[in-house]
Amino acid sequence: MGTGPPAFTEVDNPASFADSLFVRKILTAAILGILLINVMRCIIRSNQWRSEEQLFRSALSVCPLNAKVHYNVGKNLADKGNQTAAIKYYREAVRLNPKYVHAMNNLGNILKERNELREAEELLSLAVQIQPDFAAAWMNLGIVQNSLRRFEEAEQSYWTAIKHRKIYPDCYYNLGRLYADLNRHIDALNAWRNATVLKPEHSLAWNNMIILLDNTGNLAQAEAVGKEALELIPNDHSLMFSLANVLGKSQKYKESEALFLKAIKANPNAASYHGNLAVLYHRWGNLDLAKKHYEVSLKLDPTAPGTRENYNLLKRKLEQLQKKSNV
Ligand SMILES: *[C@@H]1O[C@H](CO)[C@@H](O)[C@H](O)[C@H]1NC(C)=O
Ligand SMILES: *[C@@H]1O[C@H](CO)[C@@H](O)[C@H](O)[C@H]1NC(C)=O
Repeated sequence: MGTGPPAFTEVDNPASFADSLFVRKILTAAILGILLINVMRCIIRSNQWRSEEQLFRSALSVCPLNAKVHYNVGKNLADKGNQTAAIKYYREAVRLNPKYVHAMNNLGNILKERNELREAEELLSLAVQIQPDFAAAWMNLGIVQNSLRRFEEAEQSYWTAIKHRKIYPDCYYNLGRLYADLNRHIDALNAWRNATVLKPEHSLAWNNMIILLDNTGNLAQAEAVGKEALELIPNDHSLMFSLANVLGKSQKYKESEALFLKAIKANPNAASYHGNLAVLYHRWGNLDLAKKHYEVSLKLDPTAPGTRENYNLLKRKLEQLQKKSNV
């Protein structure tokens, strides 16, 4: 205790000096006591703060009317995948603070994932009304409007999001999906291209470009884009798979096989990888290997569309060959 409280500065008065000594003793004891209590509280606290969740829960009991605390508990639950509980806390956060745009955005997102689109749209519309430059909320609103098949509004929302956040690869990706839904293929390709310009490892955007070009019969372009993508992200097995499909259709069997095998090595349990490799062998005339990979594929996913039919087709062919060789 270097300096006492200002009340004890009148030291030239003896009576008051004696008094102050006595009061000082009491004060010192009190301060020591408070210190001790604080140390103990701190120990309890640090136990409470072992996990983020406990921290937020203890905050909740201290300040139950604080929207930010409810938001944090909700976010923590959502990060752990507990959506039902997260919704409850986000709702409370919005109730306590009706202008809480981040709580609205997160709540809207969860509701969107649970296909509660009407309420999701309401919340996200309100969020961007309150904060018109909230890019993420605009993008999420676009996704909801897209799901509600209100395509023009969705497009507007995506562009508004991009206006407010220049580097927004996911938004270009979603814009591309919207254009693809509308069969605006060139626009879709441009949007996905933009996504990959901003984020070269945007695997989903690359994949969609390859698949769209493949589905529309632009095999050469699909191949070029696939190779460009694999240069940038060489270990991405979904890209290997998409490009392998393109190469198979272009009858580049050897190259296609190598890529299928590489994709399977990276991701051995994808039924479609084995199924499509089987189709490649089937077309190529390598029937034993085709049989083997159809069987692996059916084991991984007995309901894979088309695979059972292809497999039965192959078995009939093998039986016929058997008969011929027996004759
Ligand atoms: C979700 O969180 C709530 C509240 O904390 C809890 O009661 C419930 O058991 C959790 N549910 C799951 C599936 O973890
Ligand atoms: C792609 O980006 C360019 C350059 O920023 C922009 O002019 C164009 O409108 C964008 N197109 C799409 C479909 O995203």
